[in-house]
Amino acid sequence: MKVWKSITVFFVAIFLLIVSVYGQESPTNAKIETLLSRMTLEDKIGQLNQHSGFSEDEIEAVKQGQIGSLLNVAGAEQTNRIQRMAVEESRMGIPILFGIDVIHGFRTIFPIPLAQACAWDPDLVRQIEAIAAKEARAAGIHWTFSPMVDIARDARWGRIAEGAGEDPYLGSVLAAARVQGFQGMDVSSSQSIMACVKHYVAYGQADAGRDYNRVDVSRKTLYEIYLPPFKAGVEAGVMSVMSAFNTISGIPATANPFTLREVLRGQWGFGGFVVSDWGSIQELVVHGFAANGADAAQKALQAGVDMDMMGHIYGSHLLELVCTGDVPSSLVDEAVRRILTAKAALGLFDQPYVDPDKEGDILLHKDHLAYARHAAGRSMVLLKNENHLLPLHKNMKSIAVIGPLFDSKDDYLGTWACMGRSEDVVTILEGLRNNVSSGTTIQYAKGCNVLDEDNTDFAEAVTIAEQSDVVIAVVGESCDMSGEAASRTQLDLPGKQRELLEALHETGTPIVVVLMNGRPLSIPWVAEHIPAILEIWHPGVQGGNAVADVLLGDTNPSGKLTVSFPWTVGQCPIYYNHENTGRPADENKYTSKYLDCPDTPLFPFGHGLSYTTFEYGNLRLSQDAIERDGTLTVRADITNTGAVEGEEIVQLYIRDMIASLVRPVKELKGFQKIHLRPGEKKTVEFSIGPKETGFYDPEGRFIVQPGDFKLWIAWNSADGLEGQFRLQ
Ligand code: GLC
Repeated sequence: MKVWKSITVFFVAIFLLIVSVYGQESPTNAKIETLLSRMTLEDKIGQLNQHSGFSEDEIEAVKQGQIGSLLNVAGAEQTNRIQRMAVEESRMGIPILFGIDVIHGFRTIFPIPLAQACAWDPDLVRQIEAIAAKEARAAGIHWTFSPMVDIARDARWGRIAEGAGEDPYLGSVLAAARVQGFQGMDVSSSQSIMACVKHYVAYGQADAGRDYNRVDVSRKTLYEIYLPPFKAGVEAGVMSVMSAFNTISGIPATANPFTLREVLRGQWGFGGFVVSDWGSIQELVVHGFAANGADAAQKALQAGVDMDMMGHIYGSHLLELVCTGDVPSSLVDEAVRRILTAKAALGLFDQPYVDPDKEGDILLHKDHLAYARHAAGRSMVLLKNENHLLPLHKNMKSIAVIGPLFDSKDDYLGTWACMGRSEDVVTILEGLRNNVSSGTTIQYAKGCNVLDEDNTDFAEAVTIAEQSDVVIAVVGESCDMSGEAASRTQLDLPGKQRELLEALHETGTPIVVVLMNGRPLSIPWVAEHIPAILEIWHPGVQGGNAVADVLLGDTNPSGKLTVSFPWTVGQCPIYYNHENTGRPADENKYTSKYLDCPDTPLFPFGHGLSYTTFEYGNLRLSQDAIERDGTLTVRADITNTGAVEGEEIVQLYIRDMIASLVRPVKELKGFQKIHLRPGEKKTVEFSIGPKETGFYDPEGRFIVQPGDFKLWIAWNSADGLEGQFRLQ
């Protein structure tokens, strides 16, 4: 008997050892559970509350632990002061999470995200976000509501400026890179902040391009177009997600169990927390989805929204809802646990304060400014360059800088300029002065304003144009004409800017149009009559130097559009990865086209020129047929056939000719940015396998179906070297 007893004791000991090792809580989890166990329901609900700004009458709320997070409060001194109240004067001592919209830089402002995307360079955006994170953390910020990863196909929607454009593949690559840039290898470090992919989900498909409008979208399109960049962010380890304002086929995104629980947590295993957009929980009532604040609180929390941004809904209703049993306390615990986990991961329990002496040295550091100049140069897109008008010679005799934007510093910063300041901006006039030879005369005149109908200054502009060798006309949109709540029904150059260009064109002096805008514009007259067009978007604090670098040839432009430019707003939404339809446009009347406009974009997705030329040739495939789970390699030779070195963004597109769900006429599935010296040739190679040939069905299943495929290795979405293969 003794033997059996010994054996039993032995195996029980082994079992307990295994459980203790594998079932062991991490120290952090244990700490959080201990904290949770000591918190009252009021303490817990306080963690779900986010307020904006800070006024002295909120001091008590902080000391009572009723505010878990603050947004739009920055600066080491200010955040430390408030943090001391939370950590040292409240009962639980839980640190506050400070968040702000670091969308394209904190104090060093980079080009707007749509501009950065045109560099097609994940390393570039990763480095930009790392710089932004370093500056923000030094100022006491722990969390950015960025990256905005909404796919946008409608230029009427002003928030197209904040994202990566119309393509889900490129949007996914850049979403992951931005998350990695912000969060770094260790989000608790003094150089990292927590990222937040937003606005979950399909916000960019607002009806009629009108912000906050409804979204009616199929599950197929959700999985194919709008969800991928969020999935990429989750796979990159993003620690938070922001729910969107819009409805998703009748159910608001901020109370949508399908997207918030079934997809985000069930299918993707997201472990972070969800914050509502500003007041979007309270707006459930306005949508007509919740009867009142209490109903809104219950629906949002049950759907999976953990933190209430500026809605004051959780703070007003959750206590009673839990006490009456309408909301299980376990849901509150689940939300609080996620938020405390994020605070612990950020190291806030160990080091809640920042060193105020470091902030000044880090913000606007010269290396950051240098990178902002580099990034702006690579974000610019040369749309047209007839007869090689560009680059200009540095020792040109006379230049006229004209237009309403060349000197308007605020507009260089673009939308969502965080802590950026106009005095930090280098304008195009300053950039040119910094870089042309001393013998070059630069004259300048606004000529008109951005928006109004006043043309009384045309004459002055025309006069200096007549006296100059070249005109640089800086036209487009002011910074507040894109971004949130900035939808437009027209995409033309606003105000009298088009007429100003016509008057300048009459002088016969060659004109370079420099476009400063936050969305695609419909500029057919400019495209037809102006020999050189450089798209600079809102280029950030170093925009003027970067424009001078490009115009004077120190930077060879390499950017390519990530959004289609329409001929007219009537074409919107317009995007390259469209379906073929049963009657694709041709000369036959009864086909899918407009009576009064071409059926193609003015400038296609992927378009961008260089000061050199590239020749694509010798497309070849490793096989012309592969098994469904097989992989083939496609190669092509790219040669720099011009006189200067340059970079080329080589794009891979495919088309699935026949499938159980109609597939787009083209889908971007890869890209490579290569550098070529004059005369140099490189072979570019892409692999094509199930990841490229498969697609999602409406249930979110990824499927690969046999059939014929086409592929292109291309310089934009409208052209390229074409090949084909079969999936068997
Ligand atoms: C806004 C925006 C969101 C932003 C938030 C905080 O309404 O929709 O993108 O992060 O409020 O500023």
